Amino acid sequence: MKSVLILYFSRGGHTARISRHLMRSIAAEQCRCEMMDIREASKEGVDWDEWDAVVFGACVLYGTYDKTVFEFCEQHQLQLAEKGVSFYSVNVVARKPEKRILENNKYLQKFVKLSAWKPKDLKIIAGKVDYPSWGWLDSQMIRLIMKMTDGPTDPKTVIDYTDWNDVADYGKHIASLVKGSPSAE
Ligand SMILES: Cc1cc2nc3c(=O)[nH]c(=O)nc-3n(C[C@H](O)[C@H](O)[C@H](O)COP(=O)(O)O)c2cc1C
Repeated sequence: MKSVLILYFSRGGHTARISRHLMRSIAAEQCRCEMMDIREASKEGVDWDEWDAVVFGACVLYGTYDKTVFEFCEQHQLQLAEKGVSFYSVNVVARKPEKRILENNKYLQKFVKLSAWKPKDLKIIAGKVDYPSWGWLDSQMIRLIMKMTDGPTDPKTVIDYTDWNDVADYGKHIASLVKGSPSAE
């Protein structure tokens, strides 16, 4: 059985939820799959020999990614070059279908440009707007981003834009990529 580790960075928990859904979808394709917070992975390390493949996902925060995302890719670029099969970016600009392709999504372009790991397979997933759970300043800033991109600006807004069926299909896609590679067992 092939094994897949999902590494993720989530600030508010939504990318973690997406990662869990993805994990279940990959496991349903007869792969062993676990997930690990990138902050835990950075502190405790990853047993790379245990995994045939690694998937990495992170949410966009103010036009970029948390610095731990880039630091991890820098520090583990050799392992990621060998085992990293896909990267997914979670952001709310991707609520618009046309923003879910690399050519139109500057956040994914930014990852590809700045990351020491250059993943071949890329995915953009629409995230969640949740003003009530964000601090006042964050809410104000994101409401501004939303205003500029014709999104919701009501401070009470909670909208989950994630297409969960599409996340499940992404899991099947990952499993098919992994099943085409030699096993670590
Ligand atoms: C502080 C903050 C900044 C954000 N900046 C952006 C942004 O620049 N562009 C964007 O499309 N989404 C932005 N978002 C939306 C998040 O990417 C989205 O809410 C995602 O689902 C958050 O995932 P998380 O719950 O795992 O942190 C931002 C969210 C927060 C809280």
